[in-house]
Amino acid sequence: MKFFLDTADLREIEEAASWGALAGVTTNPSLYARIGGRLSGFPDHIKRICELVDGPVSAESVSLTRADIIRDGRELAALAENVVVKIPTMVEGLAATRVLANEGIAVNMTLCFTVPQAILAARAGARYISPFVGRFDDISEDGLGQLEDIVTAIGNYDFSQDTVKGEQVEVIAASIRSANHVAQAALMGADIATVPFDVLKKMVSHPLTERGLDAFMKDWEKVQNA
Ligand code: G3P
Repeated sequence: MKFFLDTADLREIEEAASWGALAGVTTNPSLYARIGGRLSGFPDHIKRICELVDGPVSAESVSLTRADIIRDGRELAALAENVVVKIPTMVEGLAATRVLANEGIAVNMTLCFTVPQAILAARAGARYISPFVGRFDDISEDGLGQLEDIVTAIGNYDFSQDTVKGEQVEVIAASIRSANHVAQAALMGADIATVPFDVLKKMVSHPLTERGLDAFMKDWEKVQNA
């Protein structure tokens, strides 16, 4: 499993990248709004994230028609080599994904909640598919169960012919709310988990690790004073 950070916050990205395990970043309009982002600064902000991260950086189209999504996608892809265009799962999004994928532009199909949506996204040439776990839980559905079904269904077929570069589509477990979500996603074989920074911090820590470290430090003090 690879880890992406689900944020538009440059400080969080810099810090997470320094931990050595960051493989990419996903942003969305809400995450950019959360850091006080302005429309005029958006392209430079995405470029800056692309410099900080050695891996794919998802930047989302905010258009609703295929022509506009394709225009957004081309503009976003021109910002940096590692930009991935994030497009919502809907008819216009699928049509735009096919055009962009044929041009060799990587697409992350977002707001994906069902197996049929995921298979359509993969057949339209998406490089990544993002099932939302937490938001499915939010409406009293089984987010992890749905993710598992999508991982299984995507794994049942070879989608490499659907992208011009012959790459296999990867499933990104998104809308992750806890370290347990990450653990379960890894056990079911999700390719990637995109996690908020607070979840990434929780993934590192365990009370027994802290207790063990404390004991080692105290015992080493005894050794030094012996
Ligand atoms: O990448 C977007 C997705 O992870 C959203 O998460 O927490 O807003 O449901 P959330």
